[in-house]
Amino acid sequence: MAFDLPPLPYDLNALEPHISANTLSFHYGKHHQAYVTNLNGLIEGTDLANKSLEDIIRITAGDKDKVGVFNNAAQVWNHTFYWHSMAPQGGGKPKGALAEKINQDFGSYEEFTKLFKQAGVTQFGSGWAWLVLNKDGKLEIMKTANADLPMVHGKKALLTYDVWEHAYYLDYQNRRPDYVDTFLSHLINWDFAEKNFEG
Ligand code: FE2
Repeated sequence: MAFDLPPLPYDLNALEPHISANTLSFHYGKHHQAYVTNLNGLIEGTDLANKSLEDIIRITAGDKDKVGVFNNAAQVWNHTFYWHSMAPQGGGKPKGALAEKINQDFGSYEEFTKLFKQAGVTQFGSGWAWLVLNKDGKLEIMKTANADLPMVHGKKALLTYDVWEHAYYLDYQNRRPDYVDTFLSHLINWDFAEKNFEG
């Protein structure tokens, strides 16, 4: 059974002026689609063909003969998660239980944003910045390279932003820190993070 490109949760122009329709049309329509197409080609006729996306990611993680499958499967998952980590009227502070937990585990919302920004800005080359819930029940900021993702490190993802250049280069060129500031101030989807935290 082949995977489909999951629908974008908003229109291509819904994140403007922060992320342009042009960026989303390439990022979603070309890059995300390519990961789906590549994954389908790689698993066709193999015993991975009937597995769920998460199972494929877990089965192939760390297998050096399955690097291509892992990279494409993880990138399909990461991008879907990233689209939901943003909202047209996003940004600002979290509420409720997650807000309290952020204060408890990071000291303050300001300290959390400092660390979350630092993770993405200091990720060398392509990758992702994450807010995750650890097995011990603590929140943590992590960064991963290329397609790597929290679930294969025993952590639950709550939020992410993409720091591959294709995520921001058309709008921000080399100014990755400005893209990250914009994500934090105007795009971050706390409703999604709260759902992941509680679910
Ligand atoms: Fe991306």
